[in-house]
Amino acid sequence: MPRIKISPSILSADLSRINEEIKEVERCANLIHVDIMDGIFVPPATVDSIFVKTLRTKVPLDVHLMVHEPSDSYIKDFINAGAYSITIHEEACRDPAKQINFIKQNKIKAAISIKPKTSLDKIKSYLGIVDMVLVMTVEPGYAGQKFIDSTMPKVRELRKLKPKLDIEVDGGINPYTARIAFDSGANVFVAGTSIFGKKDRVAAIKEVLDSLR
Ligand code: DX5
Ligand code: ZN
Repeated sequence: MPRIKISPSILSADLSRINEEIKEVERCANLIHVDIMDGIFVPPATVDSIFVKTLRTKVPLDVHLMVHEPSDSYIKDFINAGAYSITIHEEACRDPAKQINFIKQNKIKAAISIKPKTSLDKIKSYLGIVDMVLVMTVEPGYAGQKFIDSTMPKVRELRKLKPKLDIEVDGGINPYTARIAFDSGANVFVAGTSIFGKKDRVAAIKEVLDSLR
């Protein structure tokens, strides 16, 4: 199994002091998860690439595009803003290989995500070209939702198919559910509420890590 990585989601952070918020988790976060919502693929709209450009951190930015049919220039703006990896959604793109290839041509990591009800079969043809798969463990759109257990068989099947691939889980991750996802084969853990919802963010990350021992 590849290395465990923790990716705190800044959706639950205080955006008015985002760089201080990031500083607090910088010591123990492997990635910083940035949720981009367009108000079309998911009802809410969040921050854009201009905001991403203002983030001051050395921790790689894990950009999750919950965006309908992102164009090359839209994706390029996030690459220029400092994205380390960009995740697109299978359900949002007519031909996801187009976006994946564009991201890879720009020499950053590409990932594909599936919503809880989307079958793994929908993305099997992309497994050879992506650097990571994000299995959503809640319906995308909102922080603070409950982890959906029925997504775990997809993680298990994926881990069997791809022993070395980064498999990310996102939604309702806390020390308890992280362990469930880890036992199913996930190695990259996004957590918003269970980290930024706590006063001591470093302790919150450590709790997640401790649950994986
Ligand atoms: C939800 C986002 C998540 C969100 C997770 O659509 O993709 O990244 O921040 O939040 P929690 O950890 O609170 O479920
Ligand atoms: Zn996310």
